[in-house]
Amino acid sequence: MQQAIGPYLLLEANEDDIWEVMNVNEATLPEHYTQEFYREIYENFPEGFLVVKLNGKVVGYEMNRLERGLSNFGFNFVKKGHVVSIAVLEEHRNRGLGTALLNESMKKIKENGCSEIYLEVRTSNDPALKLYSKLGFTIIRTIPYYYSDGENAYVMAKKLQ
Ligand code: ACO
Ligand code: ZN
Repeated sequence: MQQAIGPYLLLEANEDDIWEVMNVNEATLPEHYTQEFYREIYENFPEGFLVVKLNGKVVGYEMNRLERGLSNFGFNFVKKGHVVSIAVLEEHRNRGLGTALLNESMKKIKENGCSEIYLEVRTSNDPALKLYSKLGFTIIRTIPYYYSDGENAYVMAKKLQ
């Protein structure tokens, strides 16, 4: 899989991209993870670990996990995709990269037998909330004090038909 978005390339990460992904994460989000965590996510669902590159350099990423658990839309047990983290470097935002990442991940998550996708997001994160709403996610519930600084999270989810 490889998709051009203007001068950018959206593709599946390889394991060597992880350190660059970690740098993008450090520059864009307060939630950081160990290298072990990234590797575990990668090994569990490599084709769901996506990067956007410009001239070979990672400028955005999305990593996902395949899970089984209660549906966000009922009381049945389902296979679902979890958007663990998505980010684009600030100077490359508003060019459709976040949209392209999420659209591709939804395709892959669905191909892997999941009937829904979900994520947690800070209730103050307007750009992310707009992106998720635009792509059909709805707010399912609020988790109080989800983040280490005490901010609440929305759980947002979308059915994959
Ligand atoms: N203010 C308000 N809305 C915005 C903004 C902004 N500054 N930027 C983008 N949007 C909205 C718009 O609705 C846009 O849709 P449209 O252009 O069709 O109207 C939509 O977001 C998507 O824009 P894209 O260009 O596709 O997304 P972008 O490449 O800018 O990436 C992202 C969006 C990933 C949320 C980016 O802002 C980012 O990296 N933010 C910092 C990291 C972050 O907050 N990640 C999400 C945390 S939650 C989680 O990871 C599950
Ligand atoms: Zn999460």
